[in-house]
Amino acid sequence: MNRFSSSRRQFLKEASNAGVACSAAALVPSVARGFAAKSPVQAASAAGTTAAARVYVDTRRTIAPLDRNLFGSFLEHLGRAIYEGIYDPGSKLSDANGFRKDVLNEIHQLGVPIIRYPGGNFVSGYNWLDGVGPKQSRPRQLDKAWDTIESNQFGTNEFLSWCKAVGTEPLMGLNLGTGTPEEAAALVEYCNVEKGTRWSDLRRQHGIADPYKVQHWCLGNEMDGPWQIGHMSATEYGLKAADAARQMRYVDPSLKLIACGSSGPFMRTYLEWDREVLEQCYDYVDGLSLHRYFGNNERDSGGDTPKYLALNLSMERQIAETVAVCDLVRGHKRSPKKLWLSFDEWNVWYRTTGGDAVDGHRQEAPHLLEEVYNLEDALLVGGLINSLLRNADRVKLACLAQLVNVIAPIMTDANGLFRQTIYYPYSWALQFARGAVLNLLVESSTYEVSGLDQVGHVDVAGSLDHGDGKLSLFILNRDLSKAHDVEVVWEDAAPSRVLSATLLTGDDLKASNSFAAPQRIAPQSFKTPAASGGRTKFEVPARSYAVIQWSL
Ligand code: AHR
Repeated sequence: MNRFSSSRRQFLKEASNAGVACSAAALVPSVARGFAAKSPVQAASAAGTTAAARVYVDTRRTIAPLDRNLFGSFLEHLGRAIYEGIYDPGSKLSDANGFRKDVLNEIHQLGVPIIRYPGGNFVSGYNWLDGVGPKQSRPRQLDKAWDTIESNQFGTNEFLSWCKAVGTEPLMGLNLGTGTPEEAAALVEYCNVEKGTRWSDLRRQHGIADPYKVQHWCLGNEMDGPWQIGHMSATEYGLKAADAARQMRYVDPSLKLIACGSSGPFMRTYLEWDREVLEQCYDYVDGLSLHRYFGNNERDSGGDTPKYLALNLSMERQIAETVAVCDLVRGHKRSPKKLWLSFDEWNVWYRTTGGDAVDGHRQEAPHLLEEVYNLEDALLVGGLINSLLRNADRVKLACLAQLVNVIAPIMTDANGLFRQTIYYPYSWALQFARGAVLNLLVESSTYEVSGLDQVGHVDVAGSLDHGDGKLSLFILNRDLSKAHDVEVVWEDAAPSRVLSATLLTGDDLKASNSFAAPQRIAPQSFKTPAASGGRTKFEVPARSYAVIQWSL
């Protein structure tokens, strides 16, 4: 039986029958209501018209400094993410450590700043001790979350050494399902204490003299979900997280700790879970997690692409609601501390959510969650990036879930890799979003989506590195049939030149990449925008996501 899918799917079905599932559509905010200063569309032209969109840029007006961890990612012991993905000792493409060199180079070039590991649902049944020490002594386990055989040939030391080779930071997940706070603190001691204690000396026995100094830790995973191994009530989890945090900080006071928030707005306990958890552990943690997966399906969009492309606005609503709960508890506690949010799982995921796609049938490295992404998915991922940027004042860390083979931008086989459509907007965020996030004023025509308020055709976010004067705009055109004129009004400082202009578009929203056709959806260069009189005008094609970078 497929444990994960049947229980999670069953859970969603029951919730929706009982009328408690919050469809993503129901969460899309009205453009008119907007979200105060962060609304992507502050003023709308008349509905149905396609007047030029206008973007007002004032380089003195920023939302927040951009934390690079906003564009992290995630690798779980799931399917072929680790085995056959980043680690494949038998492969001609691997180095002496068994690390796939092509994948390592790809992730190094992307510049992913932080990577969450080892799960996900996997972590809630994982004993980290099974994955350290001599490889021949490590047990072959049944991973009950994904019904998969886990060989434990890749564990904490392999991951942390892989992170060094890639040039990324680890975001370590802890087992607060079957695991205890004592085991969590022992892992911190193993990773971060130099020597002279039981667990630091065990690491040294394992051949690693220097401590890793891992900073960021997740206190469990989706503990509100009945599908989670070790699922418990919010108060029980809050107490356990507080205890784990206290013990971990005795070992290393410098840690940054993230409590498990709600698994998403579809949960019956959405927000109540977060409040009850924080009532117990607010003082001991630094951040709270959010998760969200979107689909162009019955549940989220009704299969309606214009609605699908607006779903990034419901991510913003989820962020606003979760921030409100954090600040409510802060008020109750009269705490000087403001929590930040860790959106540590977000992506499109809706095709591979059941049946064999989520059941490993007790095989090693089975093909699980191998979602094939198309153009419209990439456009929504672009919108989700815009939403994360606009909320950079409270969301300090976020992870595209996941990175390799499992709901991933990078897919591998024995001979190489290819880039899925969603790779491109993610890579542009990593390359071009720098410095501070701009607080833009955007005007756009809007369109009506059934059951929703007016949604802007054009959604824009931007960043500026005050150090080198590089300014980038990220522009989603949700209009499926019409190109839109965009006029940028430079309110205080006009750019001297365009550094680059790239976009993703195409005639077929359902087109995707594959090993046979890896370039079907690929970046295209974009007509260089002209500037005159403090304004820049250009056109964004229908169904497109673009990034333009200027030098001020
Ligand atoms: O990313 C895939 C799964 O989605 C993760 O294991 C879990 O945390 C979430 O439900």
